Amino acid sequence: MFNKPILAEDLENKIHTKLIAKKIFAFETLGSTNDFAKRLVQKDEHNGTLVLANEQTKGRGRQGKSWYAPPNSGLWFSIILEPIQPTDKFGIVSLLAAVALAKTIERMTSLKPALKWPNDVLINSKKVSGILIESQFSNNRRASLILGVGINVNQKKTDFPDELSETATFLREETKSVINRVDLLIELLHKLEYFYLEFQKGNSDLIIKNWKRLCPFLDKFVSVKQSRGEIEGRFENLDEYGRMALRLANGEVKHLSAGEPNLCQRGEPCYS
Ligand code: BTN
Repeated sequence: MFNKPILAEDLENKIHTKLIAKKIFAFETLGSTNDFAKRLVQKDEHNGTLVLANEQTKGRGRQGKSWYAPPNSGLWFSIILEPIQPTDKFGIVSLLAAVALAKTIERMTSLKPALKWPNDVLINSKKVSGILIESQFSNNRRASLILGVGINVNQKKTDFPDELSETATFLREETKSVINRVDLLIELLHKLEYFYLEFQKGNSDLIIKNWKRLCPFLDKFVSVKQSRGEIEGRFENLDEYGRMALRLANGEVKHLSAGEPNLCQRGEPCYS
């Protein structure tokens, strides 16, 4: 029963949002929901449109990695967004999605998720979901964001490739019970809308405040892997653009954008 595909009609009557998921494309299988959403933007598809796949055969993660998305076991979806905020604030969208995800998991399970900058959601130090945000221009050159979300929900342990078994987890494993994916998705879409509309009103402070409350790495000594090497320092704050303020040993504060870093506390493995 729990592993049936989600259909658009399973969602339509239960979603009471103003913007997000007013239009839904739901597929049994798709290469990548982000790729499909990008094609929709080129055809001038609407702000808020949801693209959901019950399975992805070419799911993409950050840093050019692939994202494992087997049939009817997780939530794999993308939402088209057209922010009116300045582009230098777009990093906040990553944070708000992570906050919405953590709060949804907290509400729907007894778990206590933690956030790792910029947008990984961890449970017991293992990654349960990932966010991939990409920009796309429509024919009239308006900038859209594609917010891609993957949540590991009802997989089996043996479903995960070996290289992920130490670093990834799924809700069924952590709660020891099967999760209703439709209920989880509906709750998440409402939370995403709430925080996204706050962002559109310019209320990034609310998002940053919530994000910081959920992050155990703040004020801790961390190292961040970047393409040009690794830097270390104290994770002092998030700035108004959602960048990490890292205090280096020489006292200088570096503001890091959510490029493609890995963040790890000293002595802990880096998750990506
Ligand atoms: C990460 O590497 O942490 C980000 C993973 C994002 C995966 C989701 S699944 C739905 C959407 N479509 C994709 O191809 N990727 C994102």
